[in-house]
Amino acid sequence: MDIDVEVDRSTQQALFERVRRHTGIVMTDRKWALLHGRLRRRLQTLALADYRDYLALLEGEAEEVGHFIDLVTTNETTFFRTPRIWDYLKQSFLPEWAEKHRGSTLQVWSAAASSGEEGYSCAMLFEEFRLTHPLFRYRILGTDISSQVLRDASAGIYQGRNLEGLRRSHPAMLERYMRMQGERGEMAPAARASISFRQHNLFKPLLEPARMDLVLLRNVLIYFDEAGQEAVLAQVRKAMAPGGILIIGESESLTRLNTGFEFMQPLVYRNRVTTHA
Ligand SMILES: C[S@@+](CC[C@H](N)C(=O)[O-])C[C@H]1O[C@@H](n2cnc3c(N)ncnc32)[C@H](O)[C@@H]1O
Repeated sequence: MDIDVEVDRSTQQALFERVRRHTGIVMTDRKWALLHGRLRRRLQTLALADYRDYLALLEGEAEEVGHFIDLVTTNETTFFRTPRIWDYLKQSFLPEWAEKHRGSTLQVWSAAASSGEEGYSCAMLFEEFRLTHPLFRYRILGTDISSQVLRDASAGIYQGRNLEGLRRSHPAMLERYMRMQGERGEMAPAARASISFRQHNLFKPLLEPARMDLVLLRNVLIYFDEAGQEAVLAQVRKAMAPGGILIIGESESLTRLNTGFEFMQPLVYRNRVTTHA
């Protein structure tokens, strides 16, 4: 069968169901063209005739699930995405946190890290802060469900549009924290020393016990339905310190959701401190 010809509705629904099962991402009919466009090439690579064969492969081979996840996730990101969040971190969050927690290490989680730009933006900002606060310490954990983007994040090598964006928005940071090799920039040791990346599905508990002081959960909730968003936020909250700060993406909001977070300012929430009787 030519996979460009019409795919029947039940096959489409079965593929949507696999997307949801493996990632929590909810796709509806209007996303079919996008999904089809991404999966078609995979079928060609595997020399499979149609999606029924592919669905059978997905059931039988765990390794294919990883490729499927890489294909169905949208990994768009940039350095210092949404400038006002970085202003908030620099001007309010960091000085206040450092003042209150002298001697502690700030624990940060970039919870849908994609190819690492968000985590390294934190690292560069924190390194700048350390110039005036040398005792300040931090650890950043970057996680994502897609192992392909995590390989890029761990490599810490950037080029093209995202590198150009950093050059335009933060030329001094690029100068200090990127080692340029021709058209490519590699994150310098200072920006890498306190960051690590690993795979994690936001619907599952974070494996090691964590008390994150700051969580960036940005531009990922939009892919889930309300029940999914609440489930993810409950897991994230379990990994946070009481009073920890959660930052979400520009087109996201928690107002309609039942969560333990309280609104502080647009895109910024605090993990409510619960007292047990
Ligand atoms: C659009 S990117 C956002 C990257 C970054 N946070 C930002 O705002 O620029 C969304 C990321 O969420 C990841 N993702 C989607 N579903 C996930 C899940 N269930 N668990 C963990 N990560 C997930 C995708 O792989 C993708 O890299």
